[in-house]
Amino acid sequence: MYCDFLIKRINDFYKNVIEVRKNKKHLVIGKNTKDDSLILTSNDYLAIANHPKILSAQEKEIKNQHNKVIMSAVFMTENSLKGVFEKEMAEYFGYESSILCQSGWAANVGLLQAIAEKDVPVYIDFFAHMSLWEGIKTSGAKAIPFLHNNTAHLEKMLVKNGPGIILIDSLYSTTGDIAPIAQIARLSKQYKCIYVVDESHSVGTHGFKGSGLVKELGLTDQVDFITLSLAKTFAGRAGLIVCSNRFAGYFPYIAYPAIFSSALLDHEIAGLRATLEVIKESDNLRESLKAKSAYLRKELKQMGYQIQSQSHIVSIESGNEEKTEILRDALEERNIFGSVFCSPATPKNRALIRLSVNSKISYEELNYSIESFQDIKNKNIF
Ligand SMILES: Cc1ncc(COP(=O)(O)O)c(C=O)c1O
Repeated sequence: MYCDFLIKRINDFYKNVIEVRKNKKHLVIGKNTKDDSLILTSNDYLAIANHPKILSAQEKEIKNQHNKVIMSAVFMTENSLKGVFEKEMAEYFGYESSILCQSGWAANVGLLQAIAEKDVPVYIDFFAHMSLWEGIKTSGAKAIPFLHNNTAHLEKMLVKNGPGIILIDSLYSTTGDIAPIAQIARLSKQYKCIYVVDESHSVGTHGFKGSGLVKELGLTDQVDFITLSLAKTFAGRAGLIVCSNRFAGYFPYIAYPAIFSSALLDHEIAGLRATLEVIKESDNLRESLKAKSAYLRKELKQMGYQIQSQSHIVSIESGNEEKTEILRDALEERNIFGSVFCSPATPKNRALIRLSVNSKISYEELNYSIESFQDIKNKNIF
């Protein structure tokens, strides 16, 4: 029923991506989890998604809504719940303003559309999140990629192409390593650039009361924009741009995701406000996450697994798709579930299995996973 060109495209996908796998499913899909599975796939790093304060804030707002308005954020006024939350988040990060978006994807694509344009060089770390790459595409600007975390290469590109926009993730969602945020801030200043840091994976887990790495490193006045997904430690479905007052007054009328897509609902925002309070109070959970992640990283590295991580995202570099399938199956046979990252999330032969540690995982569970990895090594499975 579809035209030939689409039939061919779908057929090629099944032939090359699905039928080559042993279980005839996409590489990211293995066995089903069970109630007693050790699940290391969640971005809810502090394990607060079901916190009673968050759930009751959402419930209360659902029940209290008298004038439920469903519309684009462009029509919302400052006294809306959205406006109140944006002020609270700006204060948390030490900036003038912030803009609540429907997702981290919408925040990054909208931001790039609002700040970049044709002929503006946009320097982007090779491993930066796809939403930042997509934002460059949408803006029509020129992407100038630099080698991952390589400031010498970035400087070479800056010398060659001149002032522009620099895009990085603070903590990389694939490898779990941390960017040289301060060194890049110096380059950004020296070469008169706009500096954007995506803190999706470091807000909540790092810095004073979880307010992230930019603030912890004292770089608030050198980073022009912080962006983040609120679907990680914030455990919701939203995104944020942290910015100046002037920018906040400009963005809603320029960025297409802000104009042409509806805003979050008030009960979602009420949940996020409660989550902010829970996150601020969670120093104990942050400490526990740090200790447990360090333990897992150390043990796996000692066994010879390839790991770049410096954080709670502990990714094992598994290489090509066949090797990744073998490691995934071996782990799932032992009732351990991580997330498979493969093309287009990683380069083709650099797939990985990401284990996301969370604060509530027990040392017993960690030891079980470490023993399982040892067993996989001992049996020469991977
Ligand atoms: C670094 C980074 N930025 C942005 C996003 C997009 O966030 P969201 O899932 O809220 O659209 C993600 C999520 O995968 C991410 O890891």
